[in-house]
Amino acid sequence: MAPPRTLALILAAGSGSRAGGRWPKQFATVAGKPMLLHAVELLGRHPAIDGVVVVAAPERMAQVRALIGDAALVEGGATRRESVAAGLAALPEDAERVLVHDAARPFVPYAVIDRVVAALDDHDGATPVLAVADTLVRGHDSMLGDVVPRAGLHRVQTPQGFRLAALRAAHAAWPEGDEATDDTQMVRRLGGSVALVQGDPMLEKVTYPEDFAAAESRVQWESRSA
Ligand code: CTP
Ligand code: MG
Repeated sequence: MAPPRTLALILAAGSGSRAGGRWPKQFATVAGKPMLLHAVELLGRHPAIDGVVVVAAPERMAQVRALIGDAALVEGGATRRESVAAGLAALPEDAERVLVHDAARPFVPYAVIDRVVAALDDHDGATPVLAVADTLVRGHDSMLGDVVPRAGLHRVQTPQGFRLAALRAAHAAWPEGDEATDDTQMVRRLGGSVALVQGDPMLEKVTYPEDFAAAESRVQWESRSA
């Protein structure tokens, strides 16, 4: 039997307001290439992924087209959730699974993709996570409040994988106006099962200006230790 047809949605329609800079962060060069291009190339080459769809802001379509060659390209929306919905609407009907990935996470270890895809045999969704290692505390007006027990707490990364029917249903049922920072919480709200798989520090998101240097040094460390 042929393996389920799996596509990747790469989200690049954000404005990168927290990262600053002249262009949205996904166009900034890290390790010799715009971050978006790293993500497109890495996901596009993985053997379990049959095609890549990039979601970009309407005013950046020409710039993204020049960058990604003949990969599919669609216009995103004002929020991440709307950008995912626009991407889902553009996926071919015969797709069975989708991986949703932030272009702001340029380096995607193949072992993480393997774990996410494998978990979809048994679950509606799967997300890479890292266990929280630091002590967590609540602050009140810059003063120490209660310690938050960290047992069972995780930091969520992408690529997140879904059975396409489950993700389409979650988006269709989601109340307009509610916000969701990722898709796993949407699938969960409909009662779907979402597996946690081991993430990777290489997948840390570039969010603030100082994260660019950290991303660059992670790559150098990786190539030294390879
Ligand atoms: N994203 C998107 N469409 C949006 C908002 C975000 O495709 N309307 C994408 C971003 O391009 C990014 C990913 O979702 O790859 C994760 O979002 P985030 O890190 O919040 O990026 P931005 O929204 O661009 O940054 P900021 O919130 O600092 O403005
Ligand atoms: Mg954002």
